[in-house]
Amino acid sequence: MSASKGSGRRPLISGNWKMNLTHLEAINVVQKLAFSLEPATTSKRDVSIHPPFTALRSVQTVLDADDMPMALGAQDVHWETKGAYTGEVSPPMLAKLNVRYVIVGHSERREMFGETDETVNKKVKAVLGAGMTPIMCVGETLDEREAGATEEKVLNQLRAGLAGVAADSVAAMVVAYEPIWAIGTGRTASPSDAQAVCGAIRSAVVAEHGADAGAAVRLQYGGSVKPDNIDELMALPDVDGALVGGASLDPSEFARIVGYADR
Ligand code: PGA
Repeated sequence: MSASKGSGRRPLISGNWKMNLTHLEAINVVQKLAFSLEPATTSKRDVSIHPPFTALRSVQTVLDADDMPMALGAQDVHWETKGAYTGEVSPPMLAKLNVRYVIVGHSERREMFGETDETVNKKVKAVLGAGMTPIMCVGETLDEREAGATEEKVLNQLRAGLAGVAADSVAAMVVAYEPIWAIGTGRTASPSDAQAVCGAIRSAVVAEHGADAGAAVRLQYGGSVKPDNIDELMALPDVDGALVGGASLDPSEFARIVGYADR
């Protein structure tokens, strides 16, 4: 199914900085980025930046002080609100910093830090419960793609991650389709593959959470998004945004991605 972007879904371009930049470097990057972003694009597109936890407070202060056209995002969260969870950060702690978007279930967390569909589901609910928007990541490995199991893998992750989430909450969410083989590799899914998977995700949301949720949920593509491939990705009917890793660390490159050409 291909609900058109004319149905009111506002594009969202998100920069996932991963484990990069000290808080001082982060301030510098965010200031350069604010300078590079065109008001004509930020008036019609949402932008979020996701620094490491140690830079959230500094970046929040800069964004708020200068009323910059970017929302603050986090890269992960724990699902409990407080308690004996050494090293973890809770949803209310992020919400108090004006964090609006939280990445949940990134493939690096699933592959390297034991994140499961069950913990992703708990985190999605906790983020929503704290009034923030989850960006829930799904995606297949190269072996799964070559075995023809892409949709099965992605739709299973989708179902498990959204289990028990109310339709109006699903409608407000973001789902990022990130083929694992495309992350940080310089390889991007072809536009037709990206559209096929994002179309399948939207159809599954319609089937399980209703037509309104399916029409409203925003879908991002992620995996080696760069200034030279963003235009064709954003032209796809079911792609409403991008989750950008490496290229988001360079303010002028990220600003060029945010300023993609409408088709
Ligand atoms: P990349 O990362 O743009 O560096 O491929 C994307 C991501 O991991 O979200």
